Amino acid sequence: MRNLTESNLTDAVLAKLEGATDPRFRQIMESLIRHLHAFVREVELTEQEWFAGIQFLTATGQKCDDKRQEYILLSDTLGVSMLVDAINHRKPGGATESTVLGPFYVPGSPEMPVGSDIAVGVEGEPAYFSGRVLTPGGKPIAGAVLDLWSTDGEGWYDVQKPGAPMRARARIRTDGNGRFAFWTIKPVSYPIPTDGPVGKMLLRMGRHPYRPAHTHMIVSAPGFQPVTTHVFVEGDPYLESDAVFAVKNSLVTSFVRHESGVAPDGKRLDRPYYTVNYDFGLVPAEPGRDGKG
Ligand code: BEZ
Ligand code: FE
Repeated sequence: MRNLTESNLTDAVLAKLEGATDPRFRQIMESLIRHLHAFVREVELTEQEWFAGIQFLTATGQKCDDKRQEYILLSDTLGVSMLVDAINHRKPGGATESTVLGPFYVPGSPEMPVGSDIAVGVEGEPAYFSGRVLTPGGKPIAGAVLDLWSTDGEGWYDVQKPGAPMRARARIRTDGNGRFAFWTIKPVSYPIPTDGPVGKMLLRMGRHPYRPAHTHMIVSAPGFQPVTTHVFVEGDPYLESDAVFAVKNSLVTSFVRHESGVAPDGKRLDRPYYTVNYDFGLVPAEPGRDGKG
């Protein structure tokens, strides 16, 4: 294994996988090495470009901490997250389509009763969400959990504000008829973080960083496959150009505007508000999986 050349170096590296005992790991590494080498050959990478790539990946790692995940952002903006999602969630009809998790999910948000305002004190226009969680056959699923998170009305997640408490996040459990309801704010379109290497990459690509307005949720129930998804606002100008390629038609819904007055849950509002009605569908967990979210 000396004097390796442009033509035999890839095979020499692949041969080093002989000792890998986990077949899946071996398959993934083999393919990764082949594609990486093919990429370097195709573009005839210069040494400066190779080092710029190393610096980019280093800066991406250095930007990560417990609140910021620049690698997820990189995966999202290159369409890798949605490709992994598409391959892993080839769901039958009746199931809500999945979409990107994004870097701002925080596990362990508080459980609140049906009908709660999950965004008390958060700036923004009030929005009342209601709907059901159903099986593919249309039967209501009692005790399903919606784990919800959203920006404020200016497009900031709580975790983007240093020292801010957890806000606009909650878990709501469906009632005996599979129904849920909650108040939050009407989501707004917002830019994904651009103050790191991924932002610089987008700029050099000539791309904008905006996501269309959406509310995030992971919907789960015992015995069913959980779904990580969003509800998008119909009419948003960025639906056709989401920076992370995550819009699906079935997830776009209308937010109906109402003047101040009495909302469907009897609450009196002294300013305009929106209502959203959306049903989620869950499919039974595959055998061997517990279906817990
Ligand atoms: C989000 O919707 O929270 C998000 C998704 C992907 C990248 C950045 C943000
Ligand atoms: Fe988001």
